[in-house]
Amino acid sequence: MQTQLFIGGQWRTSSTDSTFDVFDPATGDLIVAVASASADDARAACTAAHTAQQHWAAVAPRDKAEVLRRCFEIMHEHRDELARLIVRESGKPLADAVGEVGYAAEFFRWNSEEAVRIRGSIGTAPSGNNQIIVRHPPVGVVVIVTPWNFPAAMITRKLAPALAAGNAVVIKPPAETPLTALRLAELFAEAGIPDGVINVTPTADAGAWFDAAVEHRATRMVSFTGSTATGQKLLRRCADRVLKVVMELGGNAPFIVFDDADIDAAVAGAITAKMRHSAQTCTAANRFFVQAGVVDEFTAKLTAAMGAVAIGDGITEGVECGPLIHDAAVQKVEALVEAAVAAGAKIEVGGHRLDRPGSFFEPTVLSNVAFDSLITREEIFGPVAPIITFTDIDEMINHANDTEMGLIGYVFTSDLARGLNVGERLQAGMVALNRGAISDPAAPFGGMKQSGLGREGASEGIYEFCETQYIGVAY
Ligand code: SIN
Repeated sequence: MQTQLFIGGQWRTSSTDSTFDVFDPATGDLIVAVASASADDARAACTAAHTAQQHWAAVAPRDKAEVLRRCFEIMHEHRDELARLIVRESGKPLADAVGEVGYAAEFFRWNSEEAVRIRGSIGTAPSGNNQIIVRHPPVGVVVIVTPWNFPAAMITRKLAPALAAGNAVVIKPPAETPLTALRLAELFAEAGIPDGVINVTPTADAGAWFDAAVEHRATRMVSFTGSTATGQKLLRRCADRVLKVVMELGGNAPFIVFDDADIDAAVAGAITAKMRHSAQTCTAANRFFVQAGVVDEFTAKLTAAMGAVAIGDGITEGVECGPLIHDAAVQKVEALVEAAVAAGAKIEVGGHRLDRPGSFFEPTVLSNVAFDSLITREEIFGPVAPIITFTDIDEMINHANDTEMGLIGYVFTSDLARGLNVGERLQAGMVALNRGAISDPAAPFGGMKQSGLGREGASEGIYEFCETQYIGVAY
């Protein structure tokens, strides 16, 4: 198991010799101590990336594409090993972890195909006196900061397009789940990524690390996935250097069920949208708006389905919901449920932490939730489904949009025209129509409002890592 920093193709201890501990959230047990990058290490990684980027940018697109394709393959060759590492440090069920490795690898396959299709344009100026050439060179050195809920996929979703566009990167994986990132660095080096193009520097001192990384002269861009509160802080720091940014931030997804929906399909979609990766995704359904005519049926069926979810250590076969990442996460969910109940909500199932080691919370359904209660304003990041009954569609849409977040919305109806109409009215970067999950490397992932800036995946994703350069040519 790799526990050192990966800088310039070398494995190193921290310049201050410091380490931090990584724990198994299913048991609370120590897994291993990992080197903690200092500000000097962050600077060294940016310098290594700067040197390597100039060579990597000059590699022919086809050759870059072949190396990225090899990264896709090597992830599949090591799928089970990577999945087990993900389970160990994040706690998610093995089936979710296997799915994550496949999803994560797809970003390499997609971007290996995109690497040879970075297009510019050429046109004649309206005056007819000159040509307008537009091209898209790489940004340079990109700082990548990722969350713990997808230890592999949130890295590759940024890394693969960044490399396809000709950049070099410095990655700070989260302190909770650095081990997958370090193993990926090792595998990608084996796949042929040149030394210094990928640098991985876990740290327990994120503030000092980030200051050093953004102040480094070579750094030109920051790509971050995490909470809106942290994103706002990072944006302020990036503003000082006018860095390019991509921000994938929090969500507060409405999940809307109309009277005419296939209720069994809506319940299956609700379980996916809520419980995927132990209910710890920014795309998780956070507020269930259910039309009055079907609210009893939907509540009863969702209650049965949530009550049947198998909870446990992610590595045990059949487990569908693992622990939350740490005890603070359980405390937050507990407080939100208590506040909802105090405001009149009814617990249909669950409602409590599990009395066992590790940070487990029962899959929970709350009915009779007021649209403006605390639990509908906060990103829950836990296995709780609050149900709000609606009668008036316009009012429901106003409530669904009455949030600073705008990542994703889910709509269940058998009327396609209604589904499209409601989808268009939702202030969300993504809308899932009769589906509980729509993430796809070939589609643009990202949010409106305070859910983020920029898009990841699709063709859009690669241009985020490019500059736009215009060359005016005299005839
Ligand atoms: C996230 O929760 O941050 C990402 C979810 C996804 O990619 O589907």
